[in-house]
Amino acid sequence: MKNLGFIGMGNMAQALAIGFIRSGRISKENVFAFAPNQDKLKANAEKIGFTPKASVTELVEAADTIIMACKPYQIESVLKCIGDKLRGKALISIAAGWNYQKYLNYLNSDVRFQFVMPNTPAMVGEGVLLFESTNSLEANERHEIMELFSTTGFVQEIDSSLMGIAGTVTGCGPAFVDIMIEAYADAAVKYGVKRSDAYKLVSQMILGSAKLQLETGEHPAILKDNVCSPAGTTIRGVTALEENGFRNACIKSIDVIMK
Ligand SMILES: NC(=O)c1ccc[n+]([C@@H]2O[C@H](COP(=O)([O-])OP(=O)(O)OC[C@H]3O[C@@H](n4cnc5c(N)ncnc54)[C@H](OP(=O)(O)O)[C@@H]3O)[C@@H](O)[C@H]2O)c1
Repeated sequence: MKNLGFIGMGNMAQALAIGFIRSGRISKENVFAFAPNQDKLKANAEKIGFTPKASVTELVEAADTIIMACKPYQIESVLKCIGDKLRGKALISIAAGWNYQKYLNYLNSDVRFQFVMPNTPAMVGEGVLLFESTNSLEANERHEIMELFSTTGFVQEIDSSLMGIAGTVTGCGPAFVDIMIEAYADAAVKYGVKRSDAYKLVSQMILGSAKLQLETGEHPAILKDNVCSPAGTTIRGVTALEENGFRNACIKSIDVIMK
């Protein structure tokens, strides 16, 4: 990959562009983007360092690897606009639902393709970047692109049949964790902690708990047991969570999406 082009420069594209350029894996002179609102695009270009392009066709001509980062419902018309110009190039799509199988209906066979599902924590370099197993990138090209995406978080290849569930847990999960942050902060405020302190304490507690699990590789139940002393306070809280169906509520929050 020499030149990278973003179609769309919204929240997710900005998170990726910032991570890619900041890492030094690609220089800002080799990153281009197009979005319809040119004033907004130029303002983002000044902030992030990429070169703005005036049309989607100019963008595709300038890049050998293109990231489709507009909204899913806009893709069909964008592809029509590009026509044959993607031939011989690599297309990485981050649009929800637009996987390898779906693109087969729209792309020439000489367009190399990869579907990647990011999530919002990529904005702070702590995302989950799911790479669909079915793809048509060259092996070394895919490796290079995975390395590039890893500058914004944890990269994981996922079987095509599991992209839906994995993307649901990692993509919707941040909203569910945000509710948990709010709820525990409310509890802290209820007993006298300042609200501004409460969010910081709870978010850091969740960040630390996740990091402890990731770094030790311990089963979460063991980490939970380690905090629950006999007849202690934590086991009383665990009992209350179980009585109120916490575990079931988490599973159901995914069931309603997967149905
Ligand atoms: N945000 C997430 O959590 C998340 C997670 C996983 C995947 N994704 C995927 O990432 C993609 C972008 O999401 P987002 O949250 O970044 O959306 P967003 O902030 O609304 O950005 C959409 C971008 O697309 C541009 N755009 C609109 N019409 C276009 C066109 N005809 N041609 C080219 N660009 C066009 C917009 O430009 P203007 O502002 O100039 O109109 C904007 O820069 C979506 O497909 C979404 O499914 C998002």
